[in-house]
Amino acid sequence: MRPPFRSILVTIVLGVVFFRCDCEIVQFIFGDSLSDVGNNNYLSKGLAKANLPWYGIDFGNGMPNGRFCNGRTVADIIGDDMGLPRPTAFLDPSLTEDTIMQNGVNYASGGGGILNETGTYFIQRFSLYRQIELFQGTQDLIVAKVGHDKSQSFFQQALYVVALGSNDFINNYLMPVYSDSWTYNDDSFVEYLTQTLQTQLTLLHGLGARHLMVFGLGPMGCIPLQLVLSTTSGCQERTNKLALSFNRAVSKMVNDLGSQLPNASFTFGDAYDVVNDLISNPSKYGFNNSDSPCCSWGKIRPALTCIPVSKLCKDRSKYVFWDEYHPTESANMLIANELIKKMGFNKTSLTQAPTASPAVSPSPQG
Ligand SMILES: *[C@@H]1O[C@H](CO)[C@@H](O)[C@H](O)[C@H]1NC(C)=O
Ligand SMILES: *[C@@H]1O[C@H](CO)[C@@H](O)[C@H](O)[C@H]1NC(C)=O
Ligand SMILES: *[C@@H]1O[C@H](CO)[C@@H](O)[C@H](O)[C@H]1NC(C)=O
Ligand SMILES: *[C@@H]1O[C@H](CO)[C@@H](O)[C@H](O)[C@H]1NC(C)=O
Repeated sequence: MRPPFRSILVTIVLGVVFFRCDCEIVQFIFGDSLSDVGNNNYLSKGLAKANLPWYGIDFGNGMPNGRFCNGRTVADIIGDDMGLPRPTAFLDPSLTEDTIMQNGVNYASGGGGILNETGTYFIQRFSLYRQIELFQGTQDLIVAKVGHDKSQSFFQQALYVVALGSNDFINNYLMPVYSDSWTYNDDSFVEYLTQTLQTQLTLLHGLGARHLMVFGLGPMGCIPLQLVLSTTSGCQERTNKLALSFNRAVSKMVNDLGSQLPNASFTFGDAYDVVNDLISNPSKYGFNNSDSPCCSWGKIRPALTCIPVSKLCKDRSKYVFWDEYHPTESANMLIANELIKKMGFNKTSLTQAPTASPAVSPSPQG
């Protein structure tokens, strides 16, 4: 339940600054398995799914819910912290115009990337372009339901999260079966990704996205899978360098784009440094393991996915990684806190519309 006071306050402030829409502030989330809340479970032919125990063991009733985690994702935690409702998975049968306007929509899909060609190996997943197409479909539904003006203000006051990129490396560029791996070099691939993302963010702005957060990448060369595959059993330095170079390029692009596009409040944040430190010094953060998945088949590594016969670690809150690829909820909490800190995002900042100039004095009648 949301505190009624905040919801009224937000409505009044934004209702005046924008076009007098008394709708909820909701989120539209675009992402990969780090943000998927169930879409892939509905893709009948998709191979990347979190539909078996022990996924979801620390969430709700403890049954698998499509999150590639034991508990909440980073986007869940940030949204919870800001008092926003949890967006419904796009493919969830409960999605209707009403739930869209109450909760927003999450289009994130495990295996998805910025590039269309990323993750083809998983057979079915929504790439970012596809997620944006689905979002356009959502807009059409809302326009038909509430009309153009109200729909426009609803979509302009929403919060947008875009969090993709690791699959473009792990399940594309760094795998020799993908042609991008021999078409590009490290620099030109990062540039190709950044330019593609710039086009996609511009497209979203054209569709009404004004408050938009882009999450950067963590030290993906240190995920358990990469440690197992590494000859030195340490982090894969080249993979980490790619993540850093992606973060640098995308950070600049997002800031430049945000200052060029009208009324845009675009922010970039990554948690690379803190996760890197967490992996090197887990005990400093109260963790006890940063190199193996909490859910695995004992010595058989890489385990690829967590399944019912897997063994769980004793204390999930002390492991950085849940499976070979994905952090635990406790690591996600650390990441979410870092992103909130870096992006200066809090409950107050969301109510300050980018269009609001100090000269505008909100009247409570709005
Ligand atoms: C990517 O896929 C979308 C469909 O989801 C398509 O409209 C677009 O043209 C594709 N872009 C490229 C560069 O292949
Ligand atoms: C930007 O905000 C101003 C003031 O609210 C508004 O008049 C203008 O139409 C907006 N422009 C765009 C492109 O959203
Ligand atoms: C985890 O805890 C055990 C027992 O307290 C300790 O021996 C070990 O060094 C710890 N490992 C890490 C990575 O902190
Ligand atoms: C919240 O965000 C606003 C605007 O970005 C900032 O001025 C304020 O200091 C932040 N408050 C906290 C508690 O971080």
